[in-house]
Amino acid sequence: MNNDIERIFFSADTIQARVKELGEQLTKDFFGMNPLIVGILKGSFIFMADIIRSINTNCEVEFMAVSSYGRGTTTTGAVKINKDLGHDIEGRHVIIVEDILDSGLTLSYLKRYLTVRNPASISICTLLDKPARRNADIHPDYVGFECPDAFIVGYGLDYAEKYRNLPYIGVLKPEIYER
Ligand code: IMP
Ligand code: MG
Repeated sequence: MNNDIERIFFSADTIQARVKELGEQLTKDFFGMNPLIVGILKGSFIFMADIIRSINTNCEVEFMAVSSYGRGTTTTGAVKINKDLGHDIEGRHVIIVEDILDSGLTLSYLKRYLTVRNPASISICTLLDKPARRNADIHPDYVGFECPDAFIVGYGLDYAEKYRNLPYIGVLKPEIYER
């Protein structure tokens, strides 16, 4: 598995340090507000587990599952809700936690989908931002790292469902994508 990686973009230590900073920022901004942290499955599950442990005030955790990607490396633009919230969000401060903001189609759809349920606020916290590929009017409130326009894996991000378990984030050797 590690042999399939061509280059590491963000080491495990770099990620941990940045996630801690983001958690401290969220603690300040939502202190005493009992925010509802909504992780978007599957890609965000590792980031979620780490960031909520850096949030030092009460919060609640939910997950949604959406699909916008098949086995390939480019978005189809279609968003399907595979698992919805089990919670009423009216009047709540919602923080959507995503692994990566790429075209932005997934999050702009989700934000509209949740806004009609009258939350007090909706914020977007993404570990990675690929602004070069933005194709929707969506602006993240919290960003871990800006990343280059390459298809990356690790720390929850997959290629054809693999490599989510890498503790760092990197790019695969080209021959792996060509398979
Ligand atoms: P968007 O709708 O184009 O912003 O796509 C967002 C989703 O596509 C993310 O939540 C990821 O699941 C997936 N994705 C986008 N870029 C990458 C990448 O470089 N590696 C792995 N998954 C990605
Ligand atoms: Mg995802």
